[in-house]
Amino acid sequence: MTAFVCPICRKELKKSDKSAVCENGHVFDYSKEKYLNLLTANEKNSLDPGDNKEMVAARKSFLEKNYYLPLAKEIDSVLSRECKGGYTLLDAGVGTGFYLSNISGAAKRIGIDISKHAVKYAAKRNPDAECAVASVFNLPIKEESIDAITCVFSPYAFEEYARVLKKGGILVVASPSENHLIELRKALYDNVREVNNKLETELFAKLYDKQVTYSFEIVGADDIASLIKMTPYAYRAPIEKIEELSKRNKIKLTADFWVSVFRK
Ligand SMILES: C[S@@+](CC[C@H](N)C(=O)[O-])C[C@H]1O[C@@H](n2cnc3c(N)ncnc32)[C@H](O)[C@@H]1O
Ligand SMILES: [Zn+2]
Repeated sequence: MTAFVCPICRKELKKSDKSAVCENGHVFDYSKEKYLNLLTANEKNSLDPGDNKEMVAARKSFLEKNYYLPLAKEIDSVLSRECKGGYTLLDAGVGTGFYLSNISGAAKRIGIDISKHAVKYAAKRNPDAECAVASVFNLPIKEESIDAITCVFSPYAFEEYARVLKKGGILVVASPSENHLIELRKALYDNVREVNNKLETELFAKLYDKQVTYSFEIVGADDIASLIKMTPYAYRAPIEKIEELSKRNKIKLTADFWVSVFRK
């Protein structure tokens, strides 16, 4: 059995050689990197949904330098504290698989993202995880089959998260807080918009919010360019300001995140 249900008829998908197949004969082939593409044609709102190849490559290269490792460690320690024994984890909006690969305690790990470019990297980085291209708003996952979900800067599909989590299951959401990359935002915009994503949702009971704040320095024009490319700034900020910033060789930044922990 795989961790997934068929996106067409919702029956369980069984592994069979190089494919996954449901009892109604719908067949999905494993890619070279061993992920499944479970996104149906009518779920695609574009030819290439989710983060594009360039954004994903930039995120991969930035995260591999471990600038956000303290956040990954915090998420790992929340899960070790809240989830006992060999639990099943879903990383919803897994991206390049950086956070998933830093979670130590889960017995079974699942990664889903709508971007095939992201899932390719996530599957490579996490060969023991089950990864699929799918939307978090229509998860190819059975009701009440998951013990913990992580959602790191990814869409908040709270209804779907509530559907697939077991009763008592844990949802960990990471989002940017007020001062996240404030120096970068000030360098790019004349007016810096406030962000404060301390999350609320009525579908879950909030256990606590933990703020993770630290300073870090990026050295090297390549890493600065990757950071700009992986954020929405690459599309929204004035081009001359981006160019100015890209010429710098060093930048000191604040990382500021909320880690919100909920129980179903
Ligand atoms: C800001 S990135 C975060 C990725 C990863 N969690 C990380 O922090 O490295 C947001 C991710 O959500 C994915 N995404 C956007 N809409 C989605 C959807 N409807 N279902 C699944 N993933 C989605 C994007 O492709 C992208 O990989
Ligand atoms: Zn089917």
